[in-house]
Amino acid sequence: MGMHEGRVALVTGAASGIGRSTALIFAREGASVAVVDWNEEGAKATAGQIESLGGTAISLGVDVSDEAQVEEMLAKITARFGRLDAALNNAGVTSPSFKFHEMPLEEWSRMIAVNLTGVFLCMKHELAQMVTQEILGEGRGAICNTSSGAGVVPAPGQPHYTAAKHGVLGIMKNVAQEYASNRIRCNSVLPGITDTAMIQESIDRNGPGYREMLEKTVPGGVIGKPEEVGEAAVWLCSDLASRVNGQSLMVDGGGVLR
Ligand SMILES: NC(=O)c1ccc[n+]([C@@H]2O[C@H](COP(=O)([O-])OP(=O)(O)OC[C@H]3O[C@@H](n4cnc5c(N)ncnc54)[C@H](O)[C@@H]3O)[C@@H](O)[C@H]2O)c1
Repeated sequence: MGMHEGRVALVTGAASGIGRSTALIFAREGASVAVVDWNEEGAKATAGQIESLGGTAISLGVDVSDEAQVEEMLAKITARFGRLDAALNNAGVTSPSFKFHEMPLEEWSRMIAVNLTGVFLCMKHELAQMVTQEILGEGRGAICNTSSGAGVVPAPGQPHYTAAKHGVLGIMKNVAQEYASNRIRCNSVLPGITDTAMIQESIDRNGPGYREMLEKTVPGGVIGKPEEVGEAAVWLCSDLASRVNGQSLMVDGGGVLR
């Protein structure tokens, strides 16, 4: 029996990369999956992959930085599946690098809106649903957020990304503390450099030799795979991790050691 048999999981940013891999792993573990992304076509493709493997999924086109859309997302999920047991709040954007004193306010605001406010809004509405639910197994629900190595050390030239990813860990701790009494847990995965569209965007932006340079910076010279992050997130949301709450799990092969 899978870790999430008979449960309902939500993954944002699930049109590609870490989100898509995680959605597929939740389905492999028996969950019905809500596949969420503002890229509706990509979300549909992920849901289609799940269904072609015999799983159950719905796809929803949602901008996680828009509260009305996030609220509607939860309404659609509960209308279809009746409850929400697990969520990976993972949608995120990247940006070019800037000297701190040259950072345009619009870039700062765009980053914070998606990578931090988006996580806040998703948790707010997921929790509103989870607190109303009956306990199933070890709890009423479990949330995981995708932070980053930049959640604990600065990403050079990316103060907005650093602030957002540190912020994700901060609000995770608020939720972990406040909702433990409701039997709801909240944790975070902190990927290192992982082979997804986001990293490809940086490689394309920085030109020839950049991928090789990145490979030299990661442990063992191997860039991570999205499913390695997904496996950690799906476990954190499962009853197997029932005593793990408020934790930041680095999934980077040992790159950032604290
Ligand atoms: N790839 C890495 O090296 C790496 C490292 C550390 C952290 N992360 C984090 O992992 C998460 C997933 O990134 P990825 O690497 O899989 O990249 P990705 O670009 O493959 O996936 C990100 C997804 O988020 C979606 N998205 C962006 N803004 C959105 C919004 N406002 N509403 C809904 N969906 C939105 C995109 O359409 C995309 O499908 C991000 O939060 C990222 O910051 C990635």
